[in-house]
This record gives sequence, structure tokens and C-alpha cells, in this order.
Amino acid sequence: MNSNSPIGIFDSGIGGLTVLKEIISELPREHTIYLGDTARVPYGIRSPETVTRYSFENTRFLSARQIKILVIACNTASSISLDAIREHFPVSVVGVIEPGARAAAAATQNKKVGVIGTEATIRSNSYTRAIHSLDSSIAVFSTPCPLFVPIVEEGWTDDPITEMIAERYLSSLREKGIDTLVLGCTHYPLLKPVLSKVMGNSVRLIDSAIETARQIHDILASLSLLNSTSGAVRHEFYVTDSPEKFLSVGERFLGKKIEHIAATKLDMEV
Ligand code: DGL
Repeated sequence: MNSNSPIGIFDSGIGGLTVLKEIISELPREHTIYLGDTARVPYGIRSPETVTRYSFENTRFLSARQIKILVIACNTASSISLDAIREHFPVSVVGVIEPGARAAAAATQNKKVGVIGTEATIRSNSYTRAIHSLDSSIAVFSTPCPLFVPIVEEGWTDDPITEMIAERYLSSLREKGIDTLVLGCTHYPLLKPVLSKVMGNSVRLIDSAIETARQIHDILASLSLLNSTSGAVRHEFYVTDSPEKFLSVGERFLGKKIEHIAATKLDMEV
């Protein structure tokens, strides 16, 4: 492993491409390997034990490819398995919770922050804990929004149905008077326009993906692992099922063409 080695990223499926997109924009010289566990998505409805097992298998796959840093792009996997992965694997690991929490704590003026995510992320309380470890006087209000994931994958990001569902999920957070809302799921950055409309323009939307990309930059710089070589940059993609679906939906998430994609099986040994 050296500064020319790739950044490894895993997600439960397609959603983590919103994180990869920000990594490519923040670190355009870096090679990347992305693993989407499309055979077993969604993680957000599963038990902590299952999410941890899947996360370990994903990490093993990427660790075998000489990555210089591991990014857990999935909010659910970051919430549940980040500490265990750090303990078991000798690689620098970045999750999406801490960077998002830090940005929210810095952004809020009235110390009222909302968090939305999958059921598993909200149940884990990971964002509340991370925000409180930075500033215990911040009131955190959270609510799961499980329908947002299929809606985004369906492409209904600008649809009256989505606005109605967002209204139903978010009205209680609006009534709490939050001034900052953490988008605690890989899919939610694609819903920014409708979320802003429902919450009002004065509510700051925190995109964990952007904050995570900045943190990766800082860590690689501090370890002297930023890629300084010239030449073509390679972005590789592996999925555990249905590469065709990943391609068609994924290019919308990533905002660019996906090349070098392969289907793979994971080593299921525990
Ligand atoms: N990637 C997941 C997350 O950010 C959303 C999709 C899923 O439930 O697996 O929590």
C-alpha cells in the first residue's frame, strides 16, 4: 500500500455513489474501488448483527485490494459497525456519521438539529451521540424516513408524491423549530430540493457526503498518502448482484459514466 493505492468505499448498494461523487470532486487524483452490496440491499431494515456481518465481508473484500483507506459510505453500516471494523482491520476507516455530526454542530445557531435516516440508523442513535459528544446542549430530534430510499431509486425526486411523503415525515421536525437537518442516508442528497421546500429555506441541510470527502482529504494529507503521481485515474466498481441495474440508476447518482464494473461474490466466512 502506498500513496498511489486506491481509496476503498463500500455501501449497501447504489446510494454510496453520492459519497463517491463528493470524493471524486474533492480528491480528483485518487483511484477508487467501490463495492455495492446490491445482492443484500437494503441494510436499513436489518438487525445490527446482520449489518455488522455484511460490513465485515465487504471490508475483507476491499482490504484484499491494497486500499490505503476504507470509507464506509453507508450511514446504516457506519452507525452500526464502524467501531468493530476499526478494531478488527489494520486500515484507516472513515464513516459518514462523525463528519455529518461535526458539520451540524457547527451550523446550528439555535441548537436544535433534526436527523433523518433509515430505521436502523435512527434506532442506533449514532448521530445523536456524535452530536452530543461535540456539544451536549444541542437538542437532537430524529425521525426515520424509510420510503425515501425506494423513491429515490425509482427516480421520483421531483414528484408531488415525494413532496406529500416528505411533508408527512418532516412536519414534526419543522414544528420543533430546528434550523439544521442532517441528511443521514446516502440517498437523501438527491432529495435536497424537495426537503428544502418542505422545511423552508432557512433550514440548513447537512450533506454527510461532502463533509466525509473533506475528512478523507485531511486524513490522507496528514498520513502523506495523497496521490502525487500523474496519469489516468481509475474508478473501479464491484457489485454483488445485477450490474445492469447498478449502471442505469448509478450514473444518475454519480453524475458521470460508470466504467470498469464487475459482478463479484464475497467471501462469506466469518
Ligand atoms: N445506504 C443506506 C444508508 O445510507 C441506505 C440504503 C439501505 O437501507 O441499505 O443508510
